[in-house]
Amino acid sequence: LVQPVREQDLAGRHVVVSAGGTREPLDPVRYLGNRSSGRQGVALAAAALERGARVTLVGANLSVAAPPGADLVAVGTAAELRDAVRAAGKDADVVVMAAAVADYRPVSPADAKIKKQPGGPVPTITLVETVDVLAEIAHERLRAGQVVVGFAAETGDDEGSVLEHGRAKARRKGADLLVVNAVGDGLGFGTADNDVTILDASGRTVAAARGSKADVAHAVWDAVRALG
Ligand code: CTP
Ligand code: CA
Repeated sequence: LVQPVREQDLAGRHVVVSAGGTREPLDPVRYLGNRSSGRQGVALAAAALERGARVTLVGANLSVAAPPGADLVAVGTAAELRDAVRAAGKDADVVVMAAAVADYRPVSPADAKIKKQPGGPVPTITLVETVDVLAEIAHERLRAGQVVVGFAAETGDDEGSVLEHGRAKARRKGADLLVVNAVGDGLGFGTADNDVTILDASGRTVAAARGSKADVAHAVWDAVRALG
């Protein structure tokens, strides 16, 4: 099998990709987490390497290996991910937030394992909001001319379809591109294939891609390149 030689259209660029899912500790042995495997983010990192970029991969609890050639920064929590993305993002041409970042974390994780009290009071977990890293970077831009890309895993509900939620989120986040994919019913998390719609900051569709996570990754980099 001969790999196609990609045009080196990201040569000389530094890209930062966050991938995986954060885990917010409740105590030393338990956490609040999510089902993200990190596959799509790792595919984005691999695709950027093929196209000649220098790649920093901020990986949160990845269940797949990082591509050789990427500079891997391993993180656990949303706060650690924020610090790592901001540090690497200072000299990045593109920041892609493919990680599933916790929206809330337990306000004060216990220092020791929380013990069961049979028949006793049921513990209540108090949560506090985390920083929205994507919105923060999109509004602040860590470097002049930096391109910021977000992902949105959506399910349709009574309030709107997958795409309606995606368009509203694109306008809210302020990123240059938002990659929207439907999750649930065997779609998205942990699967090999993806089906995405890429929106601009106004919520307009600029591209659609369906196929392997590598195909989707290249479609995202094509859309970044098309921004000029
Ligand atoms: N994101 C982030 N920091 C957070 C939460 C999310 O940077 N604390 C980023 C994700 O990496 C992703 C984008 O924001 O690129 C969208 O995440 P998503 O969970 O879909 O959006 P939310 O605004 O958190 O909305 P909701 O979970 O209610 O759908
Ligand atoms: Ca969220």
